[in-house]
Amino acid sequence: MPTKEEVVQTLKNVVDPELGIDVVSLGMVKGVSVEGDAVEVTLELTTPACPFRAQLKEHVEKALKTLPGVSAVKVNVVARVMPSRVREKILPGVKNIIAIASGKGGVGKSTVTVNVGLALTELGASVGILDADIYGPTIPRILNVKVGLVGADDKIAPAISYNGVKVMSIGFLLQEDEPVIWRGPLVANAIKQFLTEVEWGELDYLIVDLPPGTGDASLTLAQSIPLTGVVIVSTPQDAALKIATKALNMFRKLNVDIIGIIENMSYFVCPNCGHVSEIFGRGGVKVACEKLGTRFLGEIPLSPDIRVNGELGKPVVIAAPESESAGAFRKVAYAIAGSVSVIAYKRGKNGRG
Ligand SMILES: Nc1ncnc2c1ncn2[C@@H]1O[C@H](COP(=O)(O)OP(=O)(O)O)[C@@H](O)[C@H]1O
Ligand SMILES: [Mg+2]
Repeated sequence: MPTKEEVVQTLKNVVDPELGIDVVSLGMVKGVSVEGDAVEVTLELTTPACPFRAQLKEHVEKALKTLPGVSAVKVNVVARVMPSRVREKILPGVKNIIAIASGKGGVGKSTVTVNVGLALTELGASVGILDADIYGPTIPRILNVKVGLVGADDKIAPAISYNGVKVMSIGFLLQEDEPVIWRGPLVANAIKQFLTEVEWGELDYLIVDLPPGTGDASLTLAQSIPLTGVVIVSTPQDAALKIATKALNMFRKLNVDIIGIIENMSYFVCPNCGHVSEIFGRGGVKVACEKLGTRFLGEIPLSPDIRVNGELGKPVVIAAPESESAGAFRKVAYAIAGSVSVIAYKRGKNGRG
């Protein structure tokens, strides 16, 4: 029968693929117990949406089974989201703030924001969505929510959507069809209010739908929100990629960490015959990511269920959870969560944040 120390020693051979560090050093091994020939271990992941969840569990199980005298192994997997934001004055209860940006409008930024947010909630993460796109605040429509109410202490209560997602939108302040020209400082003020006067509570992830492009508004916003990092959405065409790259370089100049790039409308699967058409040249974003030295976060198909459900106020992850589209969003969400864990780990190690 092995000792607890021997169990821990063995688990030092299991390495987190994302960080390249063993699970013991990462503090992921909790509650080790040995009784007779049975070993039980709890593995605490840094996010419930860990892309290597199954793989890590399997590797821990395998490692434990190599111990002499052990015939029964039980691995419990739990998760606690690691904060990339520590000792922050603004929104101290929010562990990570992820901005979703794009070079231009219409590439699916809001669609990604919502479906990724919902995919993260499925595994138990608490998520807020802040719609900061002053040019086209479409989140309330996609999530079928109306204005948040004034809550206690004059704080603004966010609207609550599917799976308890908290939603605040700049659209709640605007009249529909009202053309509003927001100057930089005005935008920053409104957003500051959203950050300080909305009851976000404790959140694992706050996802911010930024305005498209590299104009004044995006710039001001990116600087007024204390971000963990930014995700860029692009379609695969060369022209789209060029302006996505421009956006990426802007964020780099602002010292915002780049979480990675998503390829949306990557390919089309014919709903009748299943034939795959790579309309816009699938794979362009992946190649660009290699050149840019940034992470490719995955591809989302061009699919009618994504558009239709968005228009019906029920995103595809909720409306058709078994669909290929929902699966694609989930994969992307896990890649983002993994990437954010890496940023959080590095910040924790460097003592900044
Ligand atoms: N992968 C996709 N497949 C089909 N339609 C999509 C996809 N992504 C986005 N759309 C649709 O394209 C339009 C623009 O998407 P949206 O998320 O509003 O873009 P953005 O926020 O970048 O302006 C919407 O009608 C949306 O439903
Ligand atoms: Mg949008």
